[in-house]
Amino acid sequence: MNKIPECLIHPISIKLIRSGHPWITADNFSNRFPRQSEFIIAVDDRKRPMALLMHDPYHKNIKARVWSTKFPFDREAQHFTAGIQGRLDLAFEKRIQETALKERENYYLVFGEADQLPGLFIQKLNDRILIQFYTQFWNRYKSIIQTTVQEVFPEIKDENVWFQLRGETRELQKLPINSVDSERRDEFHLQEFGLQYLIRLGSSYDHGLYTDMSSIRFALKKYITPESSVLNLFSYTGAFSLWSMKLGAKQVTSVDLSPKYIEWLQQNLGLNPELNSSQHEALTMSVDEALDKMKVEEKKFDFIICDPPSSSSDGEKRTSAIKAYKDLIAKMDIVLNKGGKMVLFLNTHQVTNQKFEKTIQDNLHELKLNYKLGMRLTLGQDCPTLKGFPEGSYLRGLLLEKV
Ligand SMILES: C[S@@+](CC[C@H](N)C(=O)[O-])C[C@H]1O[C@@H](n2cnc3c(N)ncnc32)[C@H](O)[C@@H]1O
Repeated sequence: MNKIPECLIHPISIKLIRSGHPWITADNFSNRFPRQSEFIIAVDDRKRPMALLMHDPYHKNIKARVWSTKFPFDREAQHFTAGIQGRLDLAFEKRIQETALKERENYYLVFGEADQLPGLFIQKLNDRILIQFYTQFWNRYKSIIQTTVQEVFPEIKDENVWFQLRGETRELQKLPINSVDSERRDEFHLQEFGLQYLIRLGSSYDHGLYTDMSSIRFALKKYITPESSVLNLFSYTGAFSLWSMKLGAKQVTSVDLSPKYIEWLQQNLGLNPELNSSQHEALTMSVDEALDKMKVEEKKFDFIICDPPSSSSDGEKRTSAIKAYKDLIAKMDIVLNKGGKMVLFLNTHQVTNQKFEKTIQDNLHELKLNYKLGMRLTLGQDCPTLKGFPEGSYLRGLLLEKV
């Protein structure tokens, strides 16, 4: 192996790495890392080596990720393949031991930085494996990753291993590419908490069921009772709607702008004949429009789930979910029964838990609404987070109870 270049990093990066943050973002230092080098040894201002970095000159923002802070770094790089195997095995072992995961066929085997495999995410989806790269660095290690997965899960066939590059920009956001045949479309079913879902691996960027939300769905179990009428806003393919029905909710309404996702939701309903689909209503329209319509019709709900995209555009201007919440809360309040609850989700690392809670509290105050703050929801179980790495804690939810 060639000698690994030693490069000075930005003073802020030095501080961040010391506090456990595993990224080097683009700056005057990282932009000058030798492009052809796969690894870089980061050195501090006193020229002391401090970390072995996985280099990604192609990434717009994240130029390198910390692989190791253990000396000696050239040895760590020499044994990189064995290191990958060891870290993968450890991540798999944790999931195999987690009894809660036995309730579902979809879970993360690897959750990136928190499993010490920066930028690498692996989902088990029934008898399929979806391997997602957030850095092109991993491209050359495809086969070692696949082999290690199949050693632990020998039942996974080659054609059921999918790779996907998750891009930072729209142009890079590609469908998963099957290792065998890039033209192949793959549709299959999987079970989560006793419910069947249709998964499409080869035909869209997201496959139909957010695995990182599974543990949160389970956590909401205690709030949805047979007397509940539930409103699922931004429903996507209906996971929260089906789950509410499974828990016995007497009526569930799902709202999503996309006809494609509402049709997918209907297909999911069809896969679960034990659910009474006459108790479900699907509205293909914007959430704003739906809430206005429900206000006129004087509809009321006991439980509202609100999971908007992190930002949206009406064709003219872009609004972030956090900014949109004030209007949304005002409208949701009108259709929520007294004593009812709403769960507000925010899908971005850019707003901290504290900032989210404070914004919601301020909104309630300005709207003169009386709500009690309840459970806080975050990533969990198969989706661990890392101290000192806020980018990995991108999902949060807040339960509000109408007093
Ligand atoms: C983050 S996903 C919701 C995921 C879903 N809660 C789940 O757990 O499966 C956002 C969804 O909002 C929908 N959407 C975006 N803007 C919307 C709007 N203004 N009104 C209704 N739906 C919208 C998208 O079509 C997408 O399905």
